[in-house]
Amino acid sequence: MSDLYKKNIIIGMTGSIACYKVADLIKILIEKEAIVTIVMTKSSKNFITKTTMETLSGKDVIDDESWNISDNGINHINLTRKADLIIIVPSTANFIAKISNGIADDFLSTMCLARNCQLFIAPAMNKEMWNNPSTQRNIKQLILDNIKIIGPSYGKQACGEIGYGKLAEIEEISDEIISFFQPKLLKNKKILITAGPTIEPIDPIRFISNKSSGKMGYSIAKAAYEFGADVTLVTGPTNLKIPTNIKTYNVVTAVDMYQSVMRNIADIDVFISVAAVSDWKVLNYQNNKIKKNNTNNIPKIILDYNPDILYEVAKIKNKPFCVGFAAETENLKDYAYKKLIQKNIDLIIANIATDVMNSDKAKLMLIDSSEILDLPNSNKIEAARQVMKEISKKLKQ
Ligand SMILES: Cc1cc2nc3c(=O)[nH]c(=O)nc-3n(C[C@H](O)[C@H](O)[C@H](O)COP(=O)(O)O)c2cc1C
Repeated sequence: MSDLYKKNIIIGMTGSIACYKVADLIKILIEKEAIVTIVMTKSSKNFITKTTMETLSGKDVIDDESWNISDNGINHINLTRKADLIIIVPSTANFIAKISNGIADDFLSTMCLARNCQLFIAPAMNKEMWNNPSTQRNIKQLILDNIKIIGPSYGKQACGEIGYGKLAEIEEISDEIISFFQPKLLKNKKILITAGPTIEPIDPIRFISNKSSGKMGYSIAKAAYEFGADVTLVTGPTNLKIPTNIKTYNVVTAVDMYQSVMRNIADIDVFISVAAVSDWKVLNYQNNKIKKNNTNNIPKIILDYNPDILYEVAKIKNKPFCVGFAAETENLKDYAYKKLIQKNIDLIIANIATDVMNSDKAKLMLIDSSEILDLPNSNKIEAARQVMKEISKKLKQ
């Protein structure tokens, strides 16, 4: 079953140049099996046609002509009673001002006032419109009214100016929608996650690293965020997009990662070490590129131990609930169990390294002192959600 199976989502569109971006959002939501209804303000139809939106959503668009189309003639109420979520994307400064003051002078604003479901707003406007004290005052009011604001992001705007006001990335908006429908099993929990490989330099251009893509760690961070946790991610270098809604620290070496973890560990409830931390660092790092010469003097790399981050965190007085990952190529269960005991951690998640590294799928085994749980083979975000569900159960024990 897809993430948004049978969820009724209303997208309200207002008069911004960013209206065309809604096409991509509709595609994602429909792919995830949501039932999407589009409501357009009069002004939004200057930016994209009703026909386009009807074709993309596969349904009639609702607008200011739609007051009386249901049997009892109160369509603005009926529509919201079936909705699981309303999201205004893009939202103009004008619409934000109306909603924050309870103004209901067209179909969309009246429907929002009459709603009994959650409302999200994704603003899009010129940077001065966004920074204007009246818009900022209105946004504060919306947050107090429990309306979620997504974005805006920073960048070059349609008018050519640079600043805050761009519509959030469509992927960020769809992630927030998916997240809304996940159970908030980790609300009020602070979770610190490490992800990706570390890189140990040999000279300014060469290094030792490993094949970790960071996908599992990022999926764990995403699932923890979806479940309502306050998430911090410490990541080694990856090709993945840094999640916009998660506090993220970028590091390179294992020592950097160790220091970043230790700086952020206070008050953490759960520490999940997913990163493939390099066991060794190069002791004889060369400040200049090592030159190849045609003698038999092949350079020797001398290695030294890196700090064992998980072991060090598990030694802290009042340590958080500590979770490790064991990626092995053989004797998976035995090696994982040994790691659980040696590092004195609460849970270990084992997987076959060659299957999992750089793959979109994961087949995980959860091992603690009392049980072994085999999770089904699934994509990494689904596997991560299963892991977070199990961790939330164990936190309650
Ligand atoms: C070309 C053009 C682009 C506009 N882009 C935006 C925008 O991105 N954000 C915004 O808040 N207003 C923008 N406006 C102004 C709104 O369209 C205007 O305030 C309108 O009354 C909004 O109506 P609505 O909120 O009912 O949709 C734009 C106007 C024009 C003519």
